[in-house]
Amino acid sequence: MATKEPIGVLGAGWVGLVTAGCLAELGHEVVVRDIDPERIGALGRGHVPIHEPELEELLARNGERLRYTLDAEEAFAAAGVVFVCVGTPSLYSGDADLSAVWRIVDELPELERRTVLVMKSTVPVGTGARIRARLDELGLAHVGYASNPEFLAEGTAVANFMNPDRIVIGAFEQEDADAIAALYEPIDAPVVRADVASAEMIKLASNAFLATRISFINEIANVCEATGADVEEVARGMGLDPRLGPHFLRAGIGYGGSCFPKDVAALKQLAGNTGYHFQLLTAVIEVNELQKRRVVAKLVKHLDTLQGKTVALLGLAFKPNTNDMREASSLVLASRLLAESAAVRAWDPVALEAARPLLEGVELHDNLVEALDGADAAVVVTEWPELRDLASAEVRRAMRTPLIVDGRNLLDPDAVRAAGFLYEGIGRPSPGSPLLGEPEPARLR
Ligand SMILES: NC(=O)c1ccc[n+]([C@@H]2O[C@H](COP(=O)([O-])OP(=O)(O)OC[C@H]3O[C@@H](n4cnc5c(N)ncnc54)[C@H](O)[C@@H]3O)[C@@H](O)[C@H]2O)c1
Repeated sequence: MATKEPIGVLGAGWVGLVTAGCLAELGHEVVVRDIDPERIGALGRGHVPIHEPELEELLARNGERLRYTLDAEEAFAAAGVVFVCVGTPSLYSGDADLSAVWRIVDELPELERRTVLVMKSTVPVGTGARIRARLDELGLAHVGYASNPEFLAEGTAVANFMNPDRIVIGAFEQEDADAIAALYEPIDAPVVRADVASAEMIKLASNAFLATRISFINEIANVCEATGADVEEVARGMGLDPRLGPHFLRAGIGYGGSCFPKDVAALKQLAGNTGYHFQLLTAVIEVNELQKRRVVAKLVKHLDTLQGKTVALLGLAFKPNTNDMREASSLVLASRLLAESAAVRAWDPVALEAARPLLEGVELHDNLVEALDGADAAVVVTEWPELRDLASAEVRRAMRTPLIVDGRNLLDPDAVRAAGFLYEGIGRPSPGSPLLGEPEPARLR
């Protein structure tokens, strides 16, 4: 394949590495710059520091077109387009922390040719206009700026990048938008051209709407529990309506991760900073926080008290196929359970290392049955495929009390109960609910 225009990527996290690997796959030479020496060192040795399906193979396959560096100048040299993929976490106020973005603008190396900074990081609306003004102030009118928000989802990031639903490009100059669109030409997807502010809002509004759907179905689930309906059937029946669609109607113990919590908070604060109270998002956030804690009441319903009980959290990552622990529901749950004086154990197939510094006081296991040995309850926190067979005779024998609280509605309640377990899902009929009558005693053995 003929080598195409070299590209710079700033930030070697989920978005940066996937962007770099996919652009290299499309034939570009890509220089990836990060400020973390450990990360750059590991990548140079062929070690991918994050767990993301297909990524390691993608980077290895395109190794000859990829370079990793700590030197910003190297990433800008010869590149006409430089993607900004740095983190924009929440500040204490809920606003997005843009310090990594501003650092890039303020430390731009001397550029000999026209270069376009392409913002893939999720930033508040108005950031592009402020960066444009700063670039002009610094006498850098020849540095272009565009917004090209990223919609990939962890766990399917490579496939999402290569087969996106849409490519959104917002630029101040037509020629910059054209240059970015040309990079994506081999990818078959609708291109949405917008002004910079609208491109920024498309990303924030999309994430906020997805989070709203999750909180909506979680509230429906809670009402289902109180009234005897089954949220799984409700969601299926709703999702067949083409005006609604089936996506993000999975009831559970709340959303987490590096994007939804911070992006919803950032949009709410952005509105608040302009004097507008975004009431709906305030509710979305509150519902999500409460949802993470509902497991505690379900455990108490069967175990009476959590004091001295052993609870095993199954799955720690914020979702399957990633080791990302940012804002994971498991973190809230573990600290709530510890506060109730329960002994907390946890299992995860890939996130134990990332979780260890965040879960003080929790006993971590890489073996599922060992995590459940003598436990009074198993809580499905992350819907790892490995947990589909949780209700086995081996697990039944290992647990002191065979109680499964299925925080992701992963399991078939009838099969789990038939295997001799007590089962509690989210928004599904359970003992004590109007459909199934009085609660069974917790100790079945
Ligand atoms: N993770 C996702 O699923 C996802 C999806 C869509 C959009 N986004 C957005 O993309 C952005 C990046 O997210 P992520 O999950 O990849 O973050 P991340 O935390 O995994 O990676 C960010 C990387 O940027 C590096 N960095 C910080 N300052 C730098 C600088 N000045 N120059 C070069 N590198 C620098 C950090 O060391 C880190 O390795 C965020 O704004 C996020 O909201 C993330």
